[in-house]
Amino acid sequence: MTQQTSKKILNIAVIAGDGIGKEVTPEAQAVLDKAAQGDVSFNYTDYDLGAERYLRDGTLLTDEDLASIGEKDAILLGAVGDPRVTSGILERGLLIKLRFAFDQGVNLRPSKLYPGVSSPLKNPGDIDFAVVREGTEGLYSGMGGIIRRGTDQAIATEISMNTEFGVERAVRYAFELARKRDGKKNVTMVNKTNVLVHAGALWLDVMEKVAKDYPDVTWDYLHADACTIFMATNPSRFDVIVTDNLFGDVLTDLAGAVVGGIGYSASANINVANEHPSMFEPIHGSAPDIAGKSIANPTAAIVSVAMLLEHFGYDAAANRIHRAVEADIAENASKKRSTHQIGQDILNRL
Ligand code: NAI
Ligand code: MG
Repeated sequence: MTQQTSKKILNIAVIAGDGIGKEVTPEAQAVLDKAAQGDVSFNYTDYDLGAERYLRDGTLLTDEDLASIGEKDAILLGAVGDPRVTSGILERGLLIKLRFAFDQGVNLRPSKLYPGVSSPLKNPGDIDFAVVREGTEGLYSGMGGIIRRGTDQAIATEISMNTEFGVERAVRYAFELARKRDGKKNVTMVNKTNVLVHAGALWLDVMEKVAKDYPDVTWDYLHADACTIFMATNPSRFDVIVTDNLFGDVLTDLAGAVVGGIGYSASANINVANEHPSMFEPIHGSAPDIAGKSIANPTAAIVSVAMLLEHFGYDAAANRIHRAVEADIAENASKKRSTHQIGQDILNRL
C-alpha cells in the first residue's frame, strides 16, 4: 500500500491554487521539510493552476502541464475555486481531470476527533476511522448524456460504471489499511445493494473474494442511508469504510463535520500502482470569504503532508507531524492566531 522508495530526494508538484490555498501551502511545505530532515528531502516545482489562471488566459490544465506534473513523485494541492468561475469548470477541468489522468483509484480520507476540538455531537466518543472512496468510477465516470435539452422532452442519463478491477483496487487498499492501522481491524463496505442490485452485486462479490486473503480483518456491510445514521449516533464503531465514488463524497463530508469541521481534515488521491503521482490536499476549498486575511488555519494542509510521508513509507516522520498537530490543537485550538503563527507553532514542536 505504501510506496516504499529508496530515493533521497522526492520531486513534488505544488499546486497552491487560489485563495487560502496559496496561504496554507507554504506552511505545510515548511513543516514537511523539517519533519523529514534526515530521512528524505523535497524538490518543489510550482504550477500556476486554478481559477486565477483560468480567468487570466482561459486555460485549465494543458497537455504540457499534465506531462510535466506526471514526471513528479507526488502532487501537493492547496485549493482551487473562485466565485467568478462557474461551478463545475474547475472541478471537472482540473481536479477530476488530475484524478483520472493519474488514475488515482483511491481517495483516502481519515477522520479523527482530536482532543481539544469540539464535535457537534453531544457524545462523540473516540472517533478515529478512515474512508476509502473509489476515485475513478461510479457515477463520476462521465458516461451518459443529455439530449433534447431545452425542450419538454429532455432526457439525461448519468451512468454508474463499476469494474472488477477498480472495485478490487479500492477494496484491497481498504483491507491493507485496516490491517496496518491501530484500530478494530474491520472494513465496512457501504453501498445500496438493495436498490443498486447490479453494481452492489459486483461490490459484494469483490468483498467476499478479497476478504479471504485477510483472515485477520473482519468486515461488515451497511446501506449508505443506514451508515449516515451510525455516523451521527455512533461514529466510534467504524475503523475503515470502503465505498464508491458518490457515496464516499457525501459520507466524507459528514465525517468531516462530526470530527469538528473541515479545518483539520486532509485527503489523499492515490495512484495505487505507483505509475503516476498521487495527490495530497486539505479537504477545504479556497475560502474566498477569508482569503487574503492571513487567518486561514493551515492545519489540514499540514496533515496532508503527513499523509504524503506515510504514502512513501516515512511513518516516523509522519507521526512527528501528527504528534505536533495534536499537541498544538490541545493547547491552542481556541486561540486566535495567524496562518503563519499556527504553522510556526506546529513547526517548533517537531
Ligand atoms: P471552503 O472549504 O472554501 O469554505 C467553507 C467555509 O469554511 C468558509 O467559511 C471558510 O472560510 C471556512 N474555511 C475553509 N477552510 C478554512 C481554513 N483552513 N481555515 C479557516 N476557515 C476555513 O468551501 P466553499 O466556500 O464551499 O468553497 C469555496 C471555493 O472552494 C469554491 O470555489 C469551491 O468550488 C472550492 N473548493 C475547492 C476544493 C478543492 O480545491 N479541493 C474543495 C472544496 C471547495
Ligand atoms: Mg465533496
